[in-house]
Amino acid sequence: MTAKEIRQKYFEFFKNRGHAIIPAAALVCESDPTTLFTSSGMQPLVPYLLGESHPLGKRLVDSQPCLRLEDIDEVGDNRHTTFFEMLGNWSLGDYFKAEQLPWIYEFLTQELGLSKDRLWVSVFSAEGGPASGGEGDKNANVPWDEESFAIWKKIGIPENRILFYGPKKNWWSRSGPPDKMPVGEIGGPDSEIFFEFIDIHHDSKYGLNCHPNCDCGRFMEIGNSVFIEYMKKDNGALEELPLKNVDFGGGLERLVAAVNNNPDIFKIDLLWPLVEIIQSLSKKDYHSDKNTSRAMRIMADHFRAAVMIAREGIQASNKTQGYILRRLLRRAMLFARRLNLTESSYLKPLVRMVCKIYVDIFPDLKDKETEISAAFQQEADCFDKALKNGLREIEKVEKLDGKTAFYIYESFGFPLEMILEIVKERGQEFNLEEFEEEQKKHQDLSRQAAEGMFKGGLADQSHEVVKLHTATHLLHQALREVLGEGVKQEGSNITAERLRFDFSHSQKMTLEELKNVEDLVNEKIGENLEVSFVVMDKDQALKSGVRAFFKEKYADKVKVYNIGPSMGSGSPFSREICGGPHISKTSELGRFKIIKEEAVAKGIRRIRASLENS
Ligand code: SER
Repeated sequence: MTAKEIRQKYFEFFKNRGHAIIPAAALVCESDPTTLFTSSGMQPLVPYLLGESHPLGKRLVDSQPCLRLEDIDEVGDNRHTTFFEMLGNWSLGDYFKAEQLPWIYEFLTQELGLSKDRLWVSVFSAEGGPASGGEGDKNANVPWDEESFAIWKKIGIPENRILFYGPKKNWWSRSGPPDKMPVGEIGGPDSEIFFEFIDIHHDSKYGLNCHPNCDCGRFMEIGNSVFIEYMKKDNGALEELPLKNVDFGGGLERLVAAVNNNPDIFKIDLLWPLVEIIQSLSKKDYHSDKNTSRAMRIMADHFRAAVMIAREGIQASNKTQGYILRRLLRRAMLFARRLNLTESSYLKPLVRMVCKIYVDIFPDLKDKETEISAAFQQEADCFDKALKNGLREIEKVEKLDGKTAFYIYESFGFPLEMILEIVKERGQEFNLEEFEEEQKKHQDLSRQAAEGMFKGGLADQSHEVVKLHTATHLLHQALREVLGEGVKQEGSNITAERLRFDFSHSQKMTLEELKNVEDLVNEKIGENLEVSFVVMDKDQALKSGVRAFFKEKYADKVKVYNIGPSMGSGSPFSREICGGPHISKTSELGRFKIIKEEAVAKGIRRIRASLENS
C-alpha cells in the first residue's frame, strides 16, 4: 500500500464517521512566536481544543506535515525522521474513549490489514499497573486510565499485550508530563499502539527484556490517542476541562512501514526513491554497511525536510527557521561528501524527486522546484566557502587544542573528521576530550534554546495575545481606509508584548498617515464594537469581499470575524476570515499605539504596535 492510499483510506474512514477533512496548517509557524515549526497535529488546533468553535464542526480529520528537530541526532537509524506527516482525528468535546479506541483498532486491522496479533497497546498507569493500587500520577492527582484498559480488553487485545506506563511515557501535552506543564497548558493520558516486527530479535544492549517502549527496533509506535481532558491551573493543580477532547496522531511514514512489514521507513514510497538516486549517483549499496545506510538516510531525510521548509518561502540564514534550513542542508551535504558525492550531482535530482513525490498534496511544488534548487545551490556554494575558510584557519594554528578545534568546527561548519585528519597529517596532538567538553556545553545551550523555541507555547492563547490579535484586524482595516485598497496582509506575528503586521504598500508611511491609522483604531476601540463571527462557505465569503490572508489554506467552510454590527444588522468595520480566538468587545483592548513602521522587502512594510491600558 502506498502512503497516498493510506492517507486516503484514513480520510474516508473518518469521513464515514462524521468527520470533516480539514486542510493542513503551514509547517512554518508565522503567527506563533514561541515555536518555529508545526511539530504536532494538535498545535494548529489548540484554540479549538480550548473551546473555540471550529467552522467545520466537532469531528475533524487531517494530515499535518510536522517537523521535529529534537530527533535530528537519531536520524540515520531505520525509523526517525525530522519531517513527517501526522494523520490526525479530532473530537472537540464530542466522542471519547469508547468510540476512539475501537475505531482506530478497526482502521488498523480492517482498512490497513495489520494483523491483530502484531498490535500491542499501552495505557496510562503508575509503574506496576493497576496492581500497584490503581494510581496514575499521584502528584498530579490523576487516576490510572481504567476505562481505556477495559475497552482494549473488550476489543480483544490479550491482557499480556496491554502495557502500563506512567506520566513520562503515557501522558501527552506539548510540554511533557503534568509536572512540566505550564499554567494554561492542556493535556491528558494517552494510549499508544505499537506494531511488532517479529523478525527483529531483541538486542540486550537495550535492556534485559524487550517491551513496546524498548528502543531495539522490534516495536514501532504507530499511533497515539490522547485524551485531552485536563488543564494546568494557577495553583499548579490539574483541573478537568469542561469538554473532553480526543487528539489522535499517527505517523504516516510509520504506518506505511508497518503495512509493508518492513521496519525500515526509508523503504517506503515517500523516501525510497530518494535513496535510490543517492545509491545510483554514489555507486554505493544502501545495504552494504551501517555508515553508508546512515549517510543515505540522513541525506534523504534532510533534503526532504529542507524542500518542505523552502517551499514555504524560507531561505537559509543564521536566524530562526532559516538557520534550521541551513543546518539541515549543510548536514546533508557533509554526509554526501562521505559518499563522495558533489553538490552538482545530487542537488537537482533530489529536489526534483521530493517535488515529484509530494506534488499531489502540494501542487505549488511544480512551480517552485527550479527556485528551490537554485537556492540550495547557492547555499552549497556558501558552505564550500565556509569550509575553505575553516581550512585556512586551521593552517594558522600551531597547536590545535580542543577549544580551538571546536571554534573551527562551530564557526566554519568544519567537520570534526576533517580536523582529525589534518591534525594527524601534521603529526600534532589533539585533545578530543576537551573538544567534546566544549561540544557538550554548546549542545546543552542549543538544546535549551531549541526547547524554548519548540514548545509550541501558550503565548498564543494568553489574553494579551488574543487582544493584540483582535487589534490586528482593526489595524488591517484602518490601513486600508487610510492608504487605500491596495493594502493586503502579508504576514503577522504576535507576542504578549506587541503585534507585528506586514502589508503590501509601496512607500514609507508619513507621520500623518501613521497618526490617522492609530487614531482610527483608537476610535473603533472607543466605540466599543462587538466582535462576533459567522460560519460561511469559503467561496461565498470571498465573493462578498471578506478579507482573507492569501498565504493560508482555508477549508470549504470558514469563520468570518466581524468587528462592528454583526452581519445582516449594519455594516461591520472589519470582516476577515480567521480562526479566532478574539476578545468580545473592542473596549477591552485599551489604547493602541504604533511603535514603528519600516520596510521589510520591496513593496512590503511592517508595523509594530502595542496596547496600553487606558
Ligand atoms: N498530540 C499527539 C502527538 O503528537 C497525538 O496527536 O503524538
